[in-house]
Amino acid sequence: MHPDVKTFFDEATYTATHVVWDPDTREAAIIDSVKDYDPKSGRTGTACADAVIAFVKQRGLTVVWILETHVHADHLTAAPYLKEELGGKVAIGARIDQVQQVFKKLFNTEEGFTADGRQFDRLLEDGDSLSIGKLDVRVIHTPGHTPACVTYVIGDAAFVGDTLFMPDFGTARCDFPGGDARTLFRSIRKILALPPETRLFMCHDYAPNGRGYRWETTVGAERAENIHVRDGVSEDDFVEMRSARDKELDMPVLILPSVQVNMRAGDMPPAEDNGLRYLKIPVDAL
Ligand SMILES: [Fe+2]
Repeated sequence: MHPDVKTFFDEATYTATHVVWDPDTREAAIIDSVKDYDPKSGRTGTACADAVIAFVKQRGLTVVWILETHVHADHLTAAPYLKEELGGKVAIGARIDQVQQVFKKLFNTEEGFTADGRQFDRLLEDGDSLSIGKLDVRVIHTPGHTPACVTYVIGDAAFVGDTLFMPDFGTARCDFPGGDARTLFRSIRKILALPPETRLFMCHDYAPNGRGYRWETTVGAERAENIHVRDGVSEDDFVEMRSARDKELDMPVLILPSVQVNMRAGDMPPAEDNGLRYLKIPVDAL
């Protein structure tokens, strides 16, 4: 099984959105979409998502799934907008409830917000499978960056979310609530146990050393070259490296807006009595 993949890269958030489809039936999934958000004005936009929609329509694809690899902390998902425009069901890892419980407290959400994942159409457990036409999607729970992270294995391709990055950039940070470096190492070893020719599609790329953006590699290349987790790096060495590095990282610019929106499957908090919706900034809490 060799699904077709088209990637859209958002340079504002360094996010790769993948459209993956079955060339026979033309059924498709959209993985990790982006809604534009300007933190200076609080304005959202649909330019990134509209490019995906135009492609889907032009190719005559039928969207059956809108998949999230996790609750992103650096961009807003466009899942509700894509669902309205193209159809499809929104799915995420079942441990989303753990992420929601943490952030429900932090943001002191309204009474109606329930931290059990009900905002999503489907919650995915490790080992679950989905269909995109004749393609089989296998879900692997790959926590570490967050407790709810999943990897989608579709034929000879795997969409790894924030676990691995390109070999010259390494791995995802593990210092968000519920993150854990040892857990991430074990999740990554599950991904690297796939056949070496497996195509790996990243959720982000940061174009280190001026090389230009790239988002596709292979299991074999990661095992040979990944600067953090190539074959031969021990779990303890990884944990030490990852923990030291995470101490030096700033919070992502959009973490506060992103988490509040993405934990609601991309919906904004309810409007207040003046008809406006607000995102909160907890002071001295993070
Ligand atoms: Fe992330």
